[in-house]
Amino acid sequence: MAGLFVTLEGGDGAGKTTQSARLSAWLTDAGRTVVETREPGGTDLGVELRNIVLHRRGDISPRAEALLYAADRAHHIAEKVRPALARGEVVIQDRYLDSSVAYQGAGRVLDPGEVRGISLWAAEGLLPDVSILLDLPPEVGRERLGERTQYDRLEAAGDDFHARVRQAFLDIAEREPDRFLVVDATLPADEIARLIRARVESVLGTA
Ligand code: TYD
Repeated sequence: MAGLFVTLEGGDGAGKTTQSARLSAWLTDAGRTVVETREPGGTDLGVELRNIVLHRRGDISPRAEALLYAADRAHHIAEKVRPALARGEVVIQDRYLDSSVAYQGAGRVLDPGEVRGISLWAAEGLLPDVSILLDLPPEVGRERLGERTQYDRLEAAGDDFHARVRQAFLDIAEREPDRFLVVDATLPADEIARLIRARVESVLGTA
């Protein structure tokens, strides 16, 4: 069986974790071996990099930040994702290079095309078979994160930043309609899961 690489993208609080678990359960029931993973932090090295990039006190310059995500990505793809795909497994990944383009690009200092370029270099050109964008107004995402006592560096950024991230994701998805499914993340979780399954099923059918 051929491997399948699925990524979930979107703002914080969009429900990626829930939908990843539901898609994983459905594919496992269908007899597939599934690896659920995430960036940043999908490997041991990645956990260390995640701590630096999300929780370090003090500034990280924009290019250094982009390169830290790219370093996490390079190691994760080489050590975990490519081997799983080569074994014919399904990889469901919470965030990938589109997050770098949207978040690091939204800082307005870096060129989104260049950010995409370093990510692709890091991942040796690997693009997902399917990417799901869970689209949500940032204020709704913030409300959903409300009970948290501590925010990471990006969650703590202002509303303008998160509005630019949202628009960047929508622009990316529009440019690659064959790869992307955009889902309204305010829909009930069951309905979102159904839409995602339908898309993954159609890709598996034509694989
Ligand atoms: P995530 O793991 O989804 O957060 P949480 O586990 O707290 O829900 O993502 C952590 C943050 O990292 C998120 O705010 C987006 C950011 N991020 C980037 O800025 N660039 C990237 O390339 C990636 C993968 C994540």
